[in-house]
Amino acid sequence: MVLWIGTSFKMTKSRAEAVAYAARLRSAVGAGIPGVQPFVLPSATALAEVSAMLTAPAVSPVSTVLTGVQNAHWADAGAWTGEISVPQAADAGARIVEIGHSERRAHFGETDATVARKLAATLRHGLIPLLCCGESAEVAARGGSVAFVRAQVAAALDGLPDISRVLLAYEPVWAIGEHGREPRAEEIAAVHRALAAEWGGRVAAVLYGGSVTVRNAAALLEVPGVDGLFVGRAAWDVDGFLTLLETARRATGA
Ligand code: 13P
Repeated sequence: MVLWIGTSFKMTKSRAEAVAYAARLRSAVGAGIPGVQPFVLPSATALAEVSAMLTAPAVSPVSTVLTGVQNAHWADAGAWTGEISVPQAADAGARIVEIGHSERRAHFGETDATVARKLAATLRHGLIPLLCCGESAEVAARGGSVAFVRAQVAAALDGLPDISRVLLAYEPVWAIGEHGREPRAEEIAAVHRALAAEWGGRVAAVLYGGSVTVRNAAALLEVPGVDGLFVGRAAWDVDGFLTLLETARRATGA
């Protein structure tokens, strides 16, 4: 079993800060961590440098550090001002393409339809889609979490012939970011149970994200159906990320 532990820098860090982070991470991870697959999604400005530092030739299914982008367009090229295509991301070293984060759905007009197009483009180009899903506080309050998340994921994955590279990240909107609330393990259990039942054998892994901390990570990794963590703030300091990687290594029993 492999646990995926990743971070998105969101819109933080200068190139110098991202490179310093990658340098610490590279020397700490070395040839790899048994049973743990780390990944880092820096800002696009730092992607090429960070990827060159972290992405060694894979010697096993686990553990050099993968890098990726936080968003990409569905078209291969063209007049899409301000956008980055999947081939451009790959050219800069990306192996992972994050798709449908709730911040992009809320502020940049991403819909289930655009998410599905981006996911198909990512698979077409041989990269790993990291599909984010998650319900709002209102949906959770009326008991609709499982149905909402199942529909969101189905809208992106239904009908695709091979989804074995796909990573799912359950990120409840009510748990994400500085206005988010730390979840109790039992609050995320039902959605993870449903995602594992429906997609578990067919996708590469199902991750949890939203107010993960170095204190709650071990308990969240114990929730059945959680194959890893997708982390913002707690991993922006490289020491935090290294602590989370060590927590995952211990959770694998390695
Ligand atoms: P936080 O860990 O800062 O809540 O963010 C989670 C997230 O959105 C990861 O993409």
